[in-house]
Amino acid sequence: MSAQSPQLHPVEATATTEQISEDARRAAEEARVGWERFEQLIAEDKRVEPRDWMPNNYRKTLVRQVSQHAHSEIIGMQPEGNWITRAPSLKRKAVLMAKVQDEAGHGLYLYSAAETLGTPRDELYEQLYTGKAKYSSIFNYPARTWADIGAIGWLVDGAAITNQVPLCRASYGPYGRAMVRICKEESFHQRQGWEILYTLSHGTQAQKQMAQDAVDRFYGPALQMFGPPDDESPNSKQSMAWNIKRFSNDDLRQRFVDMIVPQAEALGLTLPDPELKWNDERGHYDYGDLDWDEFFSVVKGNGPLNHQRLAHYRAARDEGAWVREAAAAYAAKQQQAAHDAALLTA
Ligand SMILES: [Fe+2]
Ligand SMILES: [Fe+2]
Repeated sequence: MSAQSPQLHPVEATATTEQISEDARRAAEEARVGWERFEQLIAEDKRVEPRDWMPNNYRKTLVRQVSQHAHSEIIGMQPEGNWITRAPSLKRKAVLMAKVQDEAGHGLYLYSAAETLGTPRDELYEQLYTGKAKYSSIFNYPARTWADIGAIGWLVDGAAITNQVPLCRASYGPYGRAMVRICKEESFHQRQGWEILYTLSHGTQAQKQMAQDAVDRFYGPALQMFGPPDDESPNSKQSMAWNIKRFSNDDLRQRFVDMIVPQAEALGLTLPDPELKWNDERGHYDYGDLDWDEFFSVVKGNGPLNHQRLAHYRAARDEGAWVREAAAAYAAKQQQAAHDAALLTA
């Protein structure tokens, strides 16, 4: 208490102390009951909802994961958005535009889900704007040719689906439900990418080569989308114990490899890994080591386009400020008009 603070009468002081200890006791009891209920929901594989009590680390883990996911959807619009004006036909342009719009929608579902955990959306936007937040490192690679749009759809959206289908059962309700909608659209994205590559790989020799080069470029980074190997992924275990994550990074990566090998054969393209071969004993494809030094370097901000992606995001956000301000002013005006009308009829 500072020298200027009013002195409490001893009786008042005692009452305040008692009140504080009563509040603390009640808070501790609420936390105990909440903790038990939380543990029970997880044990029974049920959903945790926004109003439920949850441990701080569970909340923090989810805010980080869901917001990183949202940021990835938003930054992920850039490599493909860049090809909308150069798509080879009106049909391709319309399909690509729809896909990029879907990604914007995915970002919005996920920001909404993250917001239910108590972090305001503006704070999440700010974290991306200032470069504090991370997003999937795959989007720091350029889309050099039209075939890259095919490889991104087939491999990048394909890896995203493999990762995201189990997230539909994530224990946090708003996240799991957002993922259900997202996965439906992702399977269309993968299909359109595969179809672009199929058309190119069955075209002229030059087109087939362009498709092969694109697959060569995106194969490694797509496999890295599942994150570092299990023994270098310290948070995975806890996420699995909380039913957020259902399978480990390496298990998901294996599932993805097993899925794309026959698809590559159907495309008539090869995957750039000489160690890729069927292992009868394991019942899976073996694959070679990935370049993790490159992965961590891109994560740290040294990828081919980290700076460009962020600069583009910042410019778009700055240029769109007037739209947000106008929308907020309009909403405030509407609210005031409703308030005035209510006063008049009262
Ligand atoms: Fe998406
Ligand atoms: Fe997608």
